[in-house]
Amino acid sequence: MDDSAPTRALEVLRQRLGGAPIDWALICGSGIGKGMVAEGSGLGLEIEWTLPLAELGLPAPTVAGHGQSLVYGRIGERRVCVQTGRIHPYEGHPISVCTAALAAMLECGARGVALTCAAGGLSPLLVPGELAIIRDQINLFGPTPLVGPRFIPCGALYTPAHRERLQARAAELGLGQGGRLREVVYAHVSGPQYETPAETEALRRLGGDTVGMSTTYEAILAAAHGASILGIAVVTNVAGVVGLSHAEVQERSDAALPGLAALLGGALAGDPAQG
Ligand code: HPA
Repeated sequence: MDDSAPTRALEVLRQRLGGAPIDWALICGSGIGKGMVAEGSGLGLEIEWTLPLAELGLPAPTVAGHGQSLVYGRIGERRVCVQTGRIHPYEGHPISVCTAALAAMLECGARGVALTCAAGGLSPLLVPGELAIIRDQINLFGPTPLVGPRFIPCGALYTPAHRERLQARAAELGLGQGGRLREVVYAHVSGPQYETPAETEALRRLGGDTVGMSTTYEAILAAAHGASILGIAVVTNVAGVVGLSHAEVQERSDAALPGLAALLGGALAGDPAQG
């Protein structure tokens, strides 16, 4: 896979869209993608077409629980393009390849980006299984998709109005504590190994509430394109514990899917620009 991947992905997506707009790009994390676009999911996506990532010239995600396509359709009046699985830097690909599908969606006009992920809980307040709204991130140890002097501001990366809209929707759905979800700082680690107890403590002291191996570089790319951003983490486990496994992470993601899909279904029916 070489540097032509982003160009090819853009060409193929542009052709497939044939001028149709994208309001929202949605990226699905571990254990989330396939169920999210399945019939009857709370997302409520009316699917118009599905395009395997391979047709965009991209590698298939290798991580269990990740889908391998772009799915396009409508939620109410919004046009939504869903990447059902992620390509991570730890799978051996350059960051330009990992973000190529998102970059193509942004180039094709996506005005809002919704990021979902599984994450370990650093904060003792977080309970495995809960959904948390990402309010900020720490990308100090993660890759950036930006090259050159692109000094973009990251002072309000996760759009405050989207966070409020998610909270309102969570209250309607009865999710979280008293109808409110926790808002968290997501700390990025390169992975693929999980954290040691010492790393967990270091990330906690740096101000992280959750930890994961994705998401931050996508938020940076979305911000560089001027898109509004929302992020939701499924807290799948306590970080840094003995015996943690990807199977456990996937199980918790699966269990959280109905709530997550319903939450997103409401949020993505809204205007990405009103953020
Ligand atoms: N650490 C890093 N990434 C993760 C974790 C974790 O504990 N759980 C799910 N993704």
